[in-house]
Amino acid sequence: MRRQPLRLAIGEAARILDEAGVASARADAETLAAHVLGVERGRLPMVPLVDPPVIDALRELVAQRAKRIPLQHITGTTAMGGITVEVGSGVFVPRPETELLLEWGLTLLEGRTAPVVVDLCTGSAVLALAVANARPDAKVYAVDNDPSALAWARRNADTRTAAGDTPITLYSGDITDGRLLAELDGMVDLVLCNPPYVPKTTQVPPEVADHDPAQAVFAEDNGLAVIRATISIAARLLVVDGGVAIEHDDTHGESVPALLSARRVLSRVEDHPDLAGRPRFATARRG
Ligand SMILES: C[S@@+](CC[C@H](N)C(=O)[O-])C[C@H]1O[C@@H](n2cnc3c(N)ncnc32)[C@H](O)[C@@H]1O
Repeated sequence: MRRQPLRLAIGEAARILDEAGVASARADAETLAAHVLGVERGRLPMVPLVDPPVIDALRELVAQRAKRIPLQHITGTTAMGGITVEVGSGVFVPRPETELLLEWGLTLLEGRTAPVVVDLCTGSAVLALAVANARPDAKVYAVDNDPSALAWARRNADTRTAAGDTPITLYSGDITDGRLLAELDGMVDLVLCNPPYVPKTTQVPPEVADHDPAQAVFAEDNGLAVIRATISIAARLLVVDGGVAIEHDDTHGESVPALLSARRVLSRVEDHPDLAGRPRFATARRG
C-alpha cells in the first residue's frame, strides 16, 4: 500500500469522533495521531505522509475514543504545570481547568522559602507533584482515601523522584477526619484541593460516568460535603497569611466563597473563573 497524507487521516478521525459525540473531536484526533507517531501535537504539520501501519494504528485508537473511552486513558498520560503523570482506570483524569488553581498556588508561594504545601484529594498526585517540580524547596504532603488512586499516586511520585524532583509525602487518609495531619496545624503555607464536587443529580458525559471513579466526581450535600471538610482542615492547617484554593462546581460560585467567608480565621475570599469564564475555584487567606 502507498503512503497517505496525514492530513486526510486526521480529517477522517475527527469526523468519526464528531459523529460519536466527542466535543473536542479535531483536537482529540490530532492528539491520537501525535501519540501514534510519537511526536508533539504541534509538530504534526512536519509529517506530511504516513505509512499504512500508522493509519491502521490511528483507526484503532479512534475506534476506542469513539466508544467514549477518555482520551487520557488511551494515551496513558496527561500534563499539568511542568510535568506529565500517568492515568488510567481507577483514578480521576486531571482536567485543564485545574491548571489555574495550580498557578494561583505557585504565585502565592513566591517569596516564601521552604514552604509547606498540602494537596487534599490528590488522586494521581498531579497537583502535589507539579508543585514539587516547580518548587524543589517545598515540603509537599498529598492525601487521598482511595487505595486505587493512591497506587497511581505512588507510581507517579516514584517516577518524578527518579526524574530528580523532591519526593512528596503521600498519606492514606479521609479528609472528613477532624484530626487529619494534626501535626501540621498552623504550619502550612498552601492548601490545594480539587475535591469531588459534582451534585449527584448532575448528568455527566460517558467519559466521566463510565471511567472516572464516582467518589472522585460526586459529593453529598449538593456537591458541597467534601468542600466543607476541606475548609475546616485549611482553617486549622494554614499559617498566618497562608492560602487555600478549592476547585468547585460552576453552580457554586457563590456558595463556596460564602462557606470560606463564614470562617472567622479566613479572609480575602475570592472566586475565580475557568478558561471558559465559568466560576471554578475559590481562594482565601488565613488572616
Ligand atoms: C476530583 S479528584 C481530584 C484528583 C486530583 N487532585 C486532580 O486534580 O486530578 C478527587 C479525589 O478525591 C478523593 N476523595 C474523595 N473523597 C475523599 C475523602 N473524604 N478523603 C480523601 N480523599 C477523598 C478521590 O478518591 C479522588 O481521588
